[in-house]
Amino acid sequence: MQRLAVIALLVTAGSAEAQGVFRGPYLNDVTGDAITVLWESPAASTGTVRYRSVGAAQWQTMQSGAAARHQEVRLTGLTPPGGEIEYELDTGGTVYPGRFRTAPAAGAPFGFVVYGDNRSSPDQHRVVVDALLREMPGLHFAINTGDMVSSGQSESDWDAFFPVAAPFLASMPFYVAIGNHEASLGNNISVTRRIFALPTGGTPAANDETYYRFLYGNVEMIIVNVEVDSLYTLALLAGAQEDWLKEVLAQPLAGAQHRFVFLHQGPYSSKQGRNGNFWLRQWLDDFKTAGIDVVFSGHDHYAERGFTEQGLYYVIHGGGGAPLYNTLGPRSTNDHTIMYGETRLGYAIVKIDGPKATVEIKGIGGELVDTFTYGDAAAPECSQPADCGAAPRFGCPGGGWECRRSACQYSCAAGSGSMVSCVTDSACTRQIGANCAGTVSCVHPSINPLSWYCNCELPPDCTMTSDCANRPTPIAGCTGTWACVDSQCEFTTNLCTPQQDAGPSDAALADDAAATPASDAAVASPMDAATLPDAAAVVSVADAAAVVSGADAAVVVSPDAAEAIAPVSEGCHCGSTARGDALWVLGALALFMVRRRR
Ligand SMILES: [Fe+2]
Repeated sequence: MQRLAVIALLVTAGSAEAQGVFRGPYLNDVTGDAITVLWESPAASTGTVRYRSVGAAQWQTMQSGAAARHQEVRLTGLTPPGGEIEYELDTGGTVYPGRFRTAPAAGAPFGFVVYGDNRSSPDQHRVVVDALLREMPGLHFAINTGDMVSSGQSESDWDAFFPVAAPFLASMPFYVAIGNHEASLGNNISVTRRIFALPTGGTPAANDETYYRFLYGNVEMIIVNVEVDSLYTLALLAGAQEDWLKEVLAQPLAGAQHRFVFLHQGPYSSKQGRNGNFWLRQWLDDFKTAGIDVVFSGHDHYAERGFTEQGLYYVIHGGGGAPLYNTLGPRSTNDHTIMYGETRLGYAIVKIDGPKATVEIKGIGGELVDTFTYGDAAAPECSQPADCGAAPRFGCPGGGWECRRSACQYSCAAGSGSMVSCVTDSACTRQIGANCAGTVSCVHPSINPLSWYCNCELPPDCTMTSDCANRPTPIAGCTGTWACVDSQCEFTTNLCTPQQDAGPSDAALADDAAATPASDAAVASPMDAATLPDAAAVVSVADAAAVVSGADAAVVVSPDAAEAIAPVSEGCHCGSTARGDALWVLGALALFMVRRRR
């Protein structure tokens, strides 16, 4: 029934597209009693939104403003919280139906999906959207972690995005974190800003749709823009956003039992040649202090879940449709613990039930491939660290368990990822040697000690792409190509099909089971009983630089510059630096420069 309804909507959307509205309708900024309905047309026009609670006899109407290609209509006074609302966008006789739920009252269970990196391959994006449509009965809204299109300033790229996403967007309130591809042209994101109407205001007021927070039920959602400068010449959160984030972290929203952060480029990366977001890693201690529960990101086109150096949960899922990257699976590193990692299309679903949160990473067949739960007082995983047993198989060296919110969370030894402690090769051997299958060294890309980092160099796999030519496809159900990247053969997909996406690897689930609660896949979502009627189916940071000033001396240093030129491979994600240590180095460097000038 649901499948038929989806097909019906696709037909409706296709025929309507030819008559005017070519983007939408889509939904932003839902609250307990309001939502914004948006659409765009090839030519300036007006429209009317009719809406009512499901089952109500009377429609209410809201007219758009003056004729324009981009339209936003704010529906207010919706009741009750968590209620189902059906609507119709009427643009001169062409009607586009949709349905959504308003935000529930605090304490009521709900679910949402996190996904991203849909760019460049509409066919793969469509496969993911089809999977999301099947998940819709259990979802209240969606957060996209960025890179929806190849170039955010390209109208034609958005022309490709919307027809694929339309059946999902028409009935799913949608939030966005800015990706590097939205900011790919000189950090100009004016088109993305125009297309979406994301929540600003509040306390503190962001007044910028690229970073914002909102309370949904009992969860505080904090969306951060890590693409503040396409040249990466500024610190991650330079300027107003940094002040805003400090205040946000220090002042949780009233009623928030969970605090989640969403952004594009996450703290770590398992992609060959990447080392994650250096600047973000400097914030993780503050995230821990502020009680952030999970950091969600995209950018890397695979699925991964683990613990940060501080023992925070992190989830990377860039499997929204862009060409996939090969990854290395669960393993230990010197500064974080990877509990699950797999190359696959998919998404993460978050289920909230009071203090209990469950994150499910799923493939495009709807199969559960990884999960974790915290806050389950009825079935606690632990009451003290001793309940957590031995270190997980892939636990970072020297770490330990923390029992937090009835769940075991594994953190590394303090400072285990510190870059500034790297001075000699032998120091790196002590830090990461146990986890490196290649050659360990301390790399000194400049005189600036802040740029020194430990590297684990794997033996060369190739010197040119032809060396990788005859390798078999490593990702079941996908076709693609091999290339020689940083002396390692790397596979990138061009198409995956759900029929062949056969579910989790046995190894991944076995590893997971060693240290995480049993899958609750068999436990019905609190919202599974709710169904949507037919109408509703409807430069990396590598180039980031900090300006260091000391007396009359000023130099520019590039903490992660080395990441762009040197492969950082398995077992070595060597960038976490305590902010205090960084300040110490900056001070020392300034003093060095002053003395040299003398
Ligand atoms: Fe990206």
